[in-house]
Amino acid sequence: MSAIHLLPELLVSQIAAGEVVERPASVLKELVENSLDAGARAVTVTLDEGGVRRIQVEDDGEGIAQQDLALALARHATSKIRSLEDLEGVASMGFRGEALASIASVSRLSIVSRRRDAAHGARIAAQGAALEEVEPAARAQGTTVTVEELYFNTPARRKFLRTEATEYGHCDETFRRLALARCDVAFALRHNGRASRHLRSQPLAERAAALLGEELVNASVPIHMQSGALRLTGLAGTPQAAKARADVQYFFVNGRFVRDRLLAHAAREAYAELLHGERQPAYVLFLELDARGVDVNVHPAKTEVRFRDSRAVHQFVRHALQRALAPSAAEAPVAYAAVSYGAPIQSAFSLAQPAGAYQSFISSAVALPQTDKTPPLGYALGQLHGVYILAQNEAGLVLVDMHAAHERIVMERLKANLDAGAVQAQELLVPAVFQAEALEVAAAEENREALARLGLEVSVSGPNELSVRAAPAPLAGGDIGGLTRDLLREMREYGASQALTVRRNELLATMACHAAVRANRVLAPAEMNALLREMEETERSGSCNHGRPTWYQLSMPDLDRLFMRGR
Ligand SMILES: Nc1ncnc2c1ncn2[C@@H]1O[C@H](COP(=O)(O)OP(=O)(O)O)[C@@H](O)[C@H]1O
Ligand SMILES: [Mg+2]
Repeated sequence: MSAIHLLPELLVSQIAAGEVVERPASVLKELVENSLDAGARAVTVTLDEGGVRRIQVEDDGEGIAQQDLALALARHATSKIRSLEDLEGVASMGFRGEALASIASVSRLSIVSRRRDAAHGARIAAQGAALEEVEPAARAQGTTVTVEELYFNTPARRKFLRTEATEYGHCDETFRRLALARCDVAFALRHNGRASRHLRSQPLAERAAALLGEELVNASVPIHMQSGALRLTGLAGTPQAAKARADVQYFFVNGRFVRDRLLAHAAREAYAELLHGERQPAYVLFLELDARGVDVNVHPAKTEVRFRDSRAVHQFVRHALQRALAPSAAEAPVAYAAVSYGAPIQSAFSLAQPAGAYQSFISSAVALPQTDKTPPLGYALGQLHGVYILAQNEAGLVLVDMHAAHERIVMERLKANLDAGAVQAQELLVPAVFQAEALEVAAAEENREALARLGLEVSVSGPNELSVRAAPAPLAGGDIGGLTRDLLREMREYGASQALTVRRNELLATMACHAAVRANRVLAPAEMNALLREMEETERSGSCNHGRPTWYQLSMPDLDRLFMRGR
């Protein structure tokens, strides 16, 4: 890093100005970002009373030269940029040269620092606006900034601070964001003399597990996507990791935590088909792009950004997420359940089976084809209460929600049909005739073509009667009248063209729901296996159209744990 210098007047006027010291957490953010900019490998944050009494950040970064200490506390003094050109391509977290000055003006601040080549360290202190003399101090390479009695000289602002617990909560969240952004750096957080977090330099999954919980990490898929100059990495929570609140949604742009509408929207779209109702996706995502493609100089706190090519960014993020979240089931067991294949698993059928009670079970099970590679979702063992299919794969037991899985398969088939032009209709042996209201009859006449595209041949057979003569094959056995009514309602509400474009997926989901095997239908083993094979081939068969999971893996170790069986 070069020496600290004052920014030219013109450049100062081009930098988003404003308050950064809103509360202890904002001080914490500025100080830790400075440590990261200084190349720290380890950062220790110490807080007292939620940060109101004391915030201290120690690092092992490159330090500040003794003759620069006073300048570090001056407004618009920075070592990070010199010109507008530098600003446009800025790679450091800081560049405004204002944080330390602003913090110093509302607290008692001191800096102790030592550069590697310096004979000793040096200390400077400031009380409000007054700077003290620089004096020698003992310290290893790095910097310690201590901020005490925030707002001691501005009692009005002090009143706006919340309880210690609330301020600490904000500090902890800020710390979490910084630590997630840089899992290559070690971090520690202490509050009121007690260690509350201790993180060594570690891979993202480990860091995320420590900060956000193991459940999230276990129920998420890693992302590594690159397209041209855009790169998206991180962890995307599967529907199983979804939450009632949107509080585990971390987006980082070039290492900076941001709250960005565009990115949040892209993520919401990617998850739209996987999550039902009000469920909120959980994710930790890092977008990297050329610094010149993104403007971070929008807001002083830098949590807002502006993309030069926002459409490309939106598309890329949405696609990357969709691709990561929708592996075909053939890959899904590995991605979703972190199953380890390879270890030979004893066949459940090599055990001596008691005769009699299990006879039917065995007779369906011996239908297992003798190939050496079990398919990912395995072979059906039987059906549970007409709701679940139990299957055995290499890893252990697979539980399938029959109805949800079938719905997903039908949905994807209809989608593929419609993408190719129209859903294929199949003439019904007996037309489905049903009572309809005048409005429905009118809608049926008006939307005849749209219905035909969805594979439904509907005609008016009386003033209050509609009949369906052809329907999509997978729906043939279902409640065609109810389905037609639902579709007509959609078309009345949104108009046929809207319904077929913007609401296409909702529409197809409605159709699939009517088609799918209901619970309590007895399936023959061959039918169950056919369903499993179809799931493997179907995109997104890991969750149903409403975002519920369609299947679940219980591995042998899972089962062993259940029975406290040591292996
Ligand atoms: N922990 C640190 N280690 C090394 N240098 C630091 C540290 N904190 C601050 N500095 C120096 O002080 C300058 C001013 O810091 P700051 O007011 O936060 O502005 P900015 O980060 O925008 O440059 C920085 O440019 C940097 O040179
Ligand atoms: Mg800074």
